[in-house]
Amino acid sequence: MAENDFAWHRLHSLLGVIPVGLFLIVHLTVNFQATKGSDAFNQAASFMEHLPYLLFLEIVLIYLPILYHAIYGIYMAFTAKNNVGNFGFFRNWMFLLQRLSGLFLVIFLAWHVWETRVAMALGTPLNYEMMAHLLTNPWMIAFYMIGILSAVFHFSNGLWSFCVHWGILVSPHSQRIGTYVVAVIFVLLGYVGIRALFAFIA
Ligand code: HEM
Repeated sequence: MAENDFAWHRLHSLLGVIPVGLFLIVHLTVNFQATKGSDAFNQAASFMEHLPYLLFLEIVLIYLPILYHAIYGIYMAFTAKNNVGNFGFFRNWMFLLQRLSGLFLVIFLAWHVWETRVAMALGTPLNYEMMAHLLTNPWMIAFYMIGILSAVFHFSNGLWSFCVHWGILVSPHSQRIGTYVVAVIFVLLGYVGIRALFAFIA
């Protein structure tokens, strides 16, 4: 039982980085093309849309991993005990924010997939104009801004806890350096995500 739990937990942890975290980086990088104009974004989006076996790739590399990570994550967010007590005040906050951002992402991602990928499957072309149209509402801009920052925070802070779980950051010294490294990743990836968002706003 305990061994089983360990394996499920390890799978949850791994999927958060590969493939879900990698996908987040690719996704925000493609969106960033919008900063070079609508044509650049449409070209990048169209390249992704025309990948061979797109639906199969999406199911295996995105939907199933994120579904598993999210469902197990909801279970963990509501049941897991605070097991990082020895890490002090800062780490306790990060632990809590990891869970809150994960729960917010369930809502944000469901909405985001509905109004983009599902809309595309139902016939709306997924291009610059579609995103620009979605982002005419200031509430939606705020919702997207919080969603992007939540995803980037959750991924960056998750990378730290991933490295601890997998024995990559063991000593307190390496864990402190790890905190700075993931803080830089948060700032850089957050910049890419938010700059991309503003590129869709007239
Ligand atoms: C953009 C999508 C997401 C990405 C890139 C992502 C990535 C990650 C990563 C890298 C970790 C660290 C794994 C570890 O601690 O070893 C993690 C942890 C976690 N994720 Fe996600 N995640 C995403 C969405 C979600 C969602 C929707 C939930 C739902 C609640 C969630 C809940 C959690 C929880 C509770 C943890 C803490 C695990 C722990 O402390 O061991 N995540 N996530």
